[in-house]
Order: sequence, then structure tokens, then C-alpha cells
Amino acid sequence: MCGIIGYTGTREAEPILVEGLRRLEYRGYDSAGLATVTGQRLHVRKKAGRLSELTALLQQQPAPGTHGISHTRWATHGQATDRNAHPHLGGKDGQFCVAVVHNGVIENYAVLRRQLESEGYVFRSETDTEAVAHLIASCYDGDLVQAVRRAVVRLQGTYGLAILSPEHPGLVIGVRLGSPLVIGVGREEMFLASDPSALLGFTDRVVYLSDHQMCLLTPDEWRIENDQQVPVDARIHRIDWEPQDADKGPFEHYMLKEIYEQPDAVAAAMRGRLNEADATAHFGGLNLTPRQLRRAERIIMTACGTSYHAALIGEYLFEELARIPVEVEYASEFRYRNPPVDRNTIVLGITQSGETADTLAALRESKRKGHPTLAICNVVGSTIAREADGGVYLHAGPEIGVASTKAFTAQLTVLTLLALYFGRLGHLSSVQGTRIIRDLKAMPDILRRTLQCHEAVKQIAAKYHHVRNMLYLGRQYLYPVALEGALKLKEISYIHAEGYPAAEMKHGPIALVDEHTPSVFLVPRGHVFDKVMNNLQEIKARGGPVIAVANEGDEEVAALADDMIYVPEVPDYLQPLVVVVPLQLLAYHIALLRGCDVDKPRNLAKSVTVE
Ligand code: G6P
Repeated sequence: MCGIIGYTGTREAEPILVEGLRRLEYRGYDSAGLATVTGQRLHVRKKAGRLSELTALLQQQPAPGTHGISHTRWATHGQATDRNAHPHLGGKDGQFCVAVVHNGVIENYAVLRRQLESEGYVFRSETDTEAVAHLIASCYDGDLVQAVRRAVVRLQGTYGLAILSPEHPGLVIGVRLGSPLVIGVGREEMFLASDPSALLGFTDRVVYLSDHQMCLLTPDEWRIENDQQVPVDARIHRIDWEPQDADKGPFEHYMLKEIYEQPDAVAAAMRGRLNEADATAHFGGLNLTPRQLRRAERIIMTACGTSYHAALIGEYLFEELARIPVEVEYASEFRYRNPPVDRNTIVLGITQSGETADTLAALRESKRKGHPTLAICNVVGSTIAREADGGVYLHAGPEIGVASTKAFTAQLTVLTLLALYFGRLGHLSSVQGTRIIRDLKAMPDILRRTLQCHEAVKQIAAKYHHVRNMLYLGRQYLYPVALEGALKLKEISYIHAEGYPAAEMKHGPIALVDEHTPSVFLVPRGHVFDKVMNNLQEIKARGGPVIAVANEGDEEVAALADDMIYVPEVPDYLQPLVVVVPLQLLAYHIALLRGCDVDKPRNLAKSVTVE
């Protein structure tokens, strides 16, 4: 949520900052801005709206200088206006000694603002960030580093801050608490970013900052100190994503590219993790002792958004394959609850970004209570990946489209592998384990075949893109997929949609059904096929149009449904992987036909780093 990129080096900063912002735009896109320095002069350019508004301004008024900071915003305090866009400046009487960009929320900003106003600081925006800028200015006596140190101890809330001053040429300061920051190490140049994907193509050497740490960057040097001013011996990591991974390639949108990457993402999530000899899965980073793993009596899965839907499917997988009771909790709820949880409960966080504030807080709280914590993350080196006791990376490559697609199918793959692994520690036979491995290995090709439904889905989208409401109905493994299908449609097309367990719709949503409200039925062959068919009949009897996702050649469903989407037949526990694909495509095409910005839906952000 919000993106930061800073630069100090020998090249002109502006094009680098703009390119970094372009890569980060998926994190927030209400407004964008940057500040650079030449001599002792600050050049600040900021604009409400998309990054293109800022670049247009920069054409008129370039921002010269070889060091700068920049920001793309997802508004928390104050509307998306030019004034509220970052950077914010700190100082009195038009004499600004500091520029600040900020991710996070300053909870005591109102108190700080009152104090600073009484000291004569004039606020120009409604943001919490401007209080930080003036606070640093009020602590400044010529030593910027000390001023930042003195200021941050007075902040309550979360922050990832990038700071520069016209009086300190070449120096960029970063400091964090709860909002990610990463240093990019180059040759005679250094970068600071909220997200390593902003650095692709500039450098592949990164250093992650932890909470309460501050970094000082000059073209030749990076240095990290903790809040006691003690230097921290941090390690340089290599990012293994290629710059082209973050490009759209031949696709019109990231979302479509990422839908098409799913066969490879699923293959990558399995790579090196299948142990055929022992009919189990194998993981390098669980970091739990065999005793802890065997003693696991319960697993709590916690996540937000699409990752939460993956967790719901994980519950079915673990209960069926590993026979371990699972509870799934929204991280935002779980973090403030105090459920009686015994020590043999493992808490598993599922998150694409590894930065979602609620998921992070839920895991921290669990750790504090003494539970082993695991995380399934996509972004290597993300805060959650580093803080959990152990975990599994998705290796899905960067996911840029705000609506998550390939991370979801990769999460399902990893959850299946984990369920297999835990199952094989317990009751699951080697014959069953071998069958699961065989089924999983077939999935990348099956997903390639699934994508052949694209043309049919496009036509269905053309038929229904004008509707106002839509229902998604499925049972068992496909109930969470119904939720996910509805979420995809809501997120990017702004059509109201509800996912429901197919039978449960009789307890309410069926009242919505009429000839204008289509229902998407998830009815591949499986152990609840007949039951779902009964529910489908109930909708048809009330005149509701039915779009069915069914197995190739299923004439029984075709005889009843108004529109058919065919997917390959797979065992029940793998159905979510194939059935979700046409739902992603359906949302995509409906959104396109409604003229929506698929990759940057209104009000949303890719990574929600505020609670
Ligand atoms: C936001 C994104 C969703 C994502 C959710 C959880 O809402 O728009 O696509 O599913 O956050 O994000 P995470 O990174 O924790 O999976």
C-alpha cells in the first residue's frame, strides 16, 4: 500500500524514480510525487491521479538532481489531491529543511499536529505524513540523522519513511516500523524501495531493513543502524526475479499475463519438492523439529483477501489428506481475538506479498503466545517470510495485477504439498501419497488445457457484462472457489457478486434470483455433483440464467445450463485449481467490456500494509 523509491548516485534521479514508481504503481495509484535536490534547492513535483499525471507535469517542469525520493499513494489520511500527495516538506516560514515520503499510518498525528502548529509550523495538507516532516524539522539543528532519530521515537503507528534534505547532498535516509523498506545496492549508486520489484533492472542486490532500523545511503555506501545507534551487520541478498518477469510481454494487462502464467507457477511451486521415493513432499525451510511437526494437533490458517480463500481450501485439504483439524481466520479478526489455543497448534499465515499488515500482526501475536508459526509467501525476503519460524515460498514470480490470480493457484499447490507432507507423517499410506504426486505432476498440463476455455468465456462475458448482480455457487472444495470467483468480479468490474455454498443459497440469496441475475454454478463431476445439480435445478425453476463450469463433454449439465464453460476432469481435491481459471477470465473480460482499469481497480491496492 503506497510505494516508495529513493535514489542517490551519479545518474539523473528523475527517470529512475519515475521508472521505480511505474513498477510500484500497483501498490497505490491515487497520486504520485517526487523530490530531488540540486545545490541547496529542493525540487518537488506532485500530482493527484495516476503516474501519467506526474510524468506530464515533469515534462513541463523537470526535477533535476542525482538524488531524490518518490512515492505513489493509496490515501489513508486526506483525499487524493495534489496537496495531499507526497513528498511533504518540513520547516518554517517557507524554509524547508526536509522532504519526506511515507507508507503507513501515524496514529498520534493529530496530537503532533496541534503541538507543531502551536510552535508555528503551518500545515498545507490533511495528511499524517506532514506531521512527520515538520516534526523532523523541529528536531533539526543541522544534523539530519539525529533529527530523524529524535522524531521517530515520538511517532506512534507504522511507518516506512524515506527522507532527504537540501542541506545534505547525496544522503537518503530510510527508517521503518511496520512498513517494509529494502535497500538496493548498486555501483556508485544506492536505492531505497518499499518493495524489491521496484528495483528490477537497476540492481539485483538487496538488503532488507527490519523494524526500528535506519539506513543511511550515499552513492558509495549503505549503512544500517538500530535504534540504539549501533551498526547492524546486514546481509546482501540476490533477487532471482528477472526484469522481464515484471513486464506485460505480449499481454494487454498484467492480470491476463498472470492468468496465463498459472501452469508455470504451479510447476514452479512443486519444483524440487516432490519426494517420489517416500511418496511425500519435501521442504527446505519449515524449520520445525520433527517432534513439533508430529505433535501438531491443530493448524490455524490466517490470511486476507484471495489468500484467505486459499486458506479455506487448505482446510479441506488438510482435513482430507492429513486428518488434522484446521481453523481458518481472517487475520484482521484473529489478531484481536484471544481464542484458547494450545501449544500444539501451528499458526500458518498465507500471503502473496508477505507484507499484509493484519497477517503480519496475527503471526506476531501467535509467536508471542509461543506457537510455532509458518508462512506461505511469494515475495522472498518480505517481512512475514523473515519473521515466521519457517515457511514455504511460492516461486510464482512477481504478481503485479491487483487482483491475485497466479499466487492463488500457487498457494493451492503448496497447501496440497503441505497436506501431503503432514498426511505422510501420520495416517496417509504411501499408495495414496504416490497417487497425489502423480495427480499433482499432471496439473501444469491440465491447466494449459483449461486455458482453452478462454474463447467461450469471452463470449459469455459479452452476454452478461451489463448485469448488476451475480451469484457464484459451489460446494465443498468449490465453495471457497465460488467466494474467489465473486471476489474477482467485484474487485475489477464493480458488479455486486456473492459466493455461496450452493445449497445454502436457499436461505437467502435465492431471493435475488430473477432473469437478470445470473448464477455461476461450479459443477464438475465429483462426490457432490448430484447435490449441486439439484441446486442448479432450483435456480432454473425460478427463471435465473445459469452459467455452468463443468467437465468437458458433460451433456447432463449442458442440457440445463444457459451457458457452458468446460474444464478438464480432475480429482475433487484438485478441482479448485482448474475451476478458478475460467472465473478469473470471466471477471477479466466483464471488467474490460465495462471499461474498467483491470490492473488498477478503484480504491484497491495490491499490498495492504495498513490495518
Ligand atoms: C489485497 C489484494 C488482494 C490480496 C490481499 C491479501 O486486498 O488486493 O489481491 O489477496 O490483499 O494480500 P496478501 O499479499 O497477503 O496475499
